[in-house]
Amino acid sequence: DHITRAQSDLLRWYAAEQRDLPWRRTSDPYAILVSEIMLQQTQVDRVLPKYQQFLSAFPTLADLAVAPTADVINVWVPLGYNMRAVRLQAIAQQVMAQYDGRIPDTVEGLLSLKGIGRYTAGAIACFAYHKQVATVDTNIRRVLHRIFIGVEQPETALNDAAMLALAEQVLPPGEAYNWNQALMDMGATICTSNNPRCMACPLQEPCKAYQEMSQHSLFPSGVV
Ligand code: ADE
Repeated sequence: DHITRAQSDLLRWYAAEQRDLPWRRTSDPYAILVSEIMLQQTQVDRVLPKYQQFLSAFPTLADLAVAPTADVINVWVPLGYNMRAVRLQAIAQQVMAQYDGRIPDTVEGLLSLKGIGRYTAGAIACFAYHKQVATVDTNIRRVLHRIFIGVEQPETALNDAAMLALAEQVLPPGEAYNWNQALMDMGATICTSNNPRCMACPLQEPCKAYQEMSQHSLFPSGVV
């Protein structure tokens, strides 16, 4: 059916085209936490050098928890949104105090950490612990909406709960890690918010938004 088709097309594309990113080569929950907090407001290209520097300066959660906050901010500064650095250190301290230094492995446990929302909790549970959970950020929201619902219009926008329910419904069994990472790559490289590259898209055929656009000649510039 439509969902199965979209799942296999996207997973096949990801197997061939995935970006080689350092946080995809580790299952250290701390490193993945650092990457996800950095990626929340900053593009991948700018995160890459900072991710390595930050982990060199603070190699473990315990190191980060006891570091002088001024040092943590200093390493972070060029990324901007410095409150993220303070929040990240507070998370490290909370994990030391409440979880004996081990980052929780469930969405519920992760949500108990101050400053971690449902997206980051899902990302860490999935990318660090391989839990079969859905997670939705702005990129994944846009991609899922276009594939499974259609062109985004205010009237068709789903609320957060409905979008998470859709993400759970279409999660391919046993493939949550690759699926969630694949949706990130799609959102960053093909299914961009402006001028999506539909002609290069592995999901062109099953995509609801593409079907609507072809029927109504609503192609955005650059698509045809
Ligand atoms: N943005 C947020 N998380 C990401 C990830 N794991 N890979 C690429 N971009 C991301």
